Amino acid sequence: MSNTIKTAIITGASKGIGKAISLNFAANNIDVVLAARNKTQLKQLQDEIEENYQVKSLIVPTDVTDEIQVKTLVQKTLDQFGKIDILINNAGVGRFKRADEFTLDDYNYMFDINVKGVFLVTKYVVPHMVARESGQIINIASIAGKNGFKTGTLYAASKHAVVGYTWSLREDLKEYKIKVSVVCPGSVVTEFGGKKPDKVEWSMEPEDVAFACYYLASESDYVNTAEIIIKPRLNPRKINQS
Ligand SMILES: NC(=O)c1ccc[n+]([C@@H]2O[C@H](COP(=O)([O-])OP(=O)(O)OC[C@H]3O[C@@H](n4cnc5c(N)ncnc54)[C@H](OP(=O)(O)O)[C@@H]3O)[C@@H](O)[C@H]2O)c1
Repeated sequence: MSNTIKTAIITGASKGIGKAISLNFAANNIDVVLAARNKTQLKQLQDEIEENYQVKSLIVPTDVTDEIQVKTLVQKTLDQFGKIDILINNAGVGRFKRADEFTLDDYNYMFDINVKGVFLVTKYVVPHMVARESGQIINIASIAGKNGFKTGTLYAASKHAVVGYTWSLREDLKEYKIKVSVVCPGSVVTEFGGKKPDKVEWSMEPEDVAFACYYLASESDYVNTAEIIIKPRLNPRKINQS
């Protein structure tokens, strides 16, 4: 059991931003617990980590909306590593339509994964961090957690919820020396929402969000940045493709 190397749980690790965070952390000597539903993609990521880095990794297939599976995720992490230093609540989904075209299923889908998922994983990780008076929680919201946009009513509402949740969680946990932050990226080139961002020239790479998370994980003990808003600039890779 390792006690000097940090251990991080990353939800939504199977692809996109969560995968980039997992690889960044592994490259920076942080043991990683990879949580998402797609076992095949998690295994591929674990193989990539084991081939390239010295850290330990653990796969725990998890649907963040399922309370039993979330409890198992936390327990398996503690069984293997004995501690949780960092939680990245990254799992999230988006559907985009005019407000009146959304169905109750769209609402439940986005709020279950984006909001209930953050609530559940945090709920079961926090007691362990409180007992140790140590730990860090980083929630991946979105620029849609700060602004609104056309076709984004429900997604923006869910991400505003994540931002509000995070700022309140920060107040709950600061007396226990637990750091809490929210990261709000603009467009990132991933498969998010089933398509590439519309204006791909103005988009960042998943690695840019991972870099911000590693920055937060690297701050000194007496500093805790509350919120990072990351706005893309013209992306040369995307311009060359068009
Ligand atoms: N891409 C963007 O432009 C952008 C911008 C700002 C913020 N964000 C946010 O960044 C986060 C990651 O998005 P992404 O761009 O990396 O999208 P992505 O490539 O579609 O990845 C989403 C991840 O969430 C996981 N996930 C979805 N439902 C889940 C569930 N019920 N339980 C566990 N994991 C679940 C998926 O894994 P499985 O399918 O294997 O479960 C996948 O690993 C999201 O919270 C998103 O809202 C994205």
